Amino acid sequence: ELPCTVRSFAEALGLPAQKVLAKLFEMGTLANINATLDQATAELLAAELGVDVTFRAEADPEEEIEAIWNAPDPEESLRPRPPVVTFLGHVDHGKTSLLDKILGLNVAAKEKGGITQHIRAYQVEKNGRPITFLDTPGHEAFTAMRARGANCTDIVVLVVAVDDGVMPQTEEAISHARAAGVPIVVALNKVDLPGTRPERVMQQLTGLGLVPTEWGGDVEMVRTSALTGQGIPELLDTLITLGDIFELKANYDRPACGTCLEASLQPGRGVVAKFLVQKGTLRPGDIVVCGTAHGRIKAMYDPLQPHKRVQEAPPARPVDVIGLDNVPEAGSRFVVLEDIAKARKIAEHRMEMARQRELAQVRSHVTLENLFER
Ligand code: GTP
Ligand code: MG
Repeated sequence: ELPCTVRSFAEALGLPAQKVLAKLFEMGTLANINATLDQATAELLAAELGVDVTFRAEADPEEEIEAIWNAPDPEESLRPRPPVVTFLGHVDHGKTSLLDKILGLNVAAKEKGGITQHIRAYQVEKNGRPITFLDTPGHEAFTAMRARGANCTDIVVLVVAVDDGVMPQTEEAISHARAAGVPIVVALNKVDLPGTRPERVMQQLTGLGLVPTEWGGDVEMVRTSALTGQGIPELLDTLITLGDIFELKANYDRPACGTCLEASLQPGRGVVAKFLVQKGTLRPGDIVVCGTAHGRIKAMYDPLQPHKRVQEAPPARPVDVIGLDNVPEAGSRFVVLEDIAKARKIAEHRMEMARQRELAQVRSHVTLENLFER
């Protein structure tokens, strides 16, 4: 199989590696046992050594993963699943406070500098109906994280503070949602502030193509206050109704796949990865490959109750997962595989590809033209 190393080439042919290296040297190449051979060299080498070889390219592991991800789910296997809702909006417009109010938490007050640095993912039940919420950072340094939030989302709640109105990151959030093809619900937030005029913000939004339903358009806009709780029941109703209209469904009985929202190395816990399951059901013991990481899931925890173990994560459920061998890049997709050796091989292959990309970048920076530039 190609590409191959001198070692695997020699092994495949049943020859001592030294003999292959000697022949390579005769051919004018000084190589070591770990050097990679391209097909042309390998063919020439085989001819020189007087052996017949056939080459076959190795199956592309990315295509395999793609095939697992896209494996069709028969219509009868699909069951309703909760909507995944992401809060997007300008910094300080109240995304975290709104989610806190919904959850009965108080995270916003504890945040460093009042700015969300991490993706939060929670599932809550309202009147027996689960909804999954993602809270994203509003600071512009976190655009990528926000884009990621929009990508595994069914509905975006665009939070616009009525005292501030449409701001640069409001517009950016709109384009993320549009790029991801995700419908928008607007929370006109901070309506408790005296002298604010939500209609002014509705006008601004209309100018950007988001026309409120009360003006004959198709965007639900709810006046909310994270302070008083005004409008929050209406917001939740709107989200549940939209979820029902979209008839969101998933196959619960297949090997799980989904997205790693973020991951970090935590003292005493090892690699903790925040997974959002999108298809299938994830369980402890499952073997996963996620970006450049792989492993067998040791334990899963509820992000809302970090010490509560979870035995099953169905579609749209966020879980904190322990058991990966290294920290995958946030936004990486994960899939469950049967075979740990295969998972390792794919993760290693990706790591190798990443290394090669880095090397290629370094090389492309050092050219004859710029080598001596100062
Ligand atoms: P980033 O995470 O930095 O993007 O901000 P955020 O959108 O999550 O805003 P956050 O919830 O941290 O709120 C910012 C500030 O606005 C805090 O001081 C909140 O107390 C305040 N705030 C949020 N919602 C409301 C509201 O409805 N009314 C009033 N009066 N203040 C609010
Ligand atoms: Mg926040």
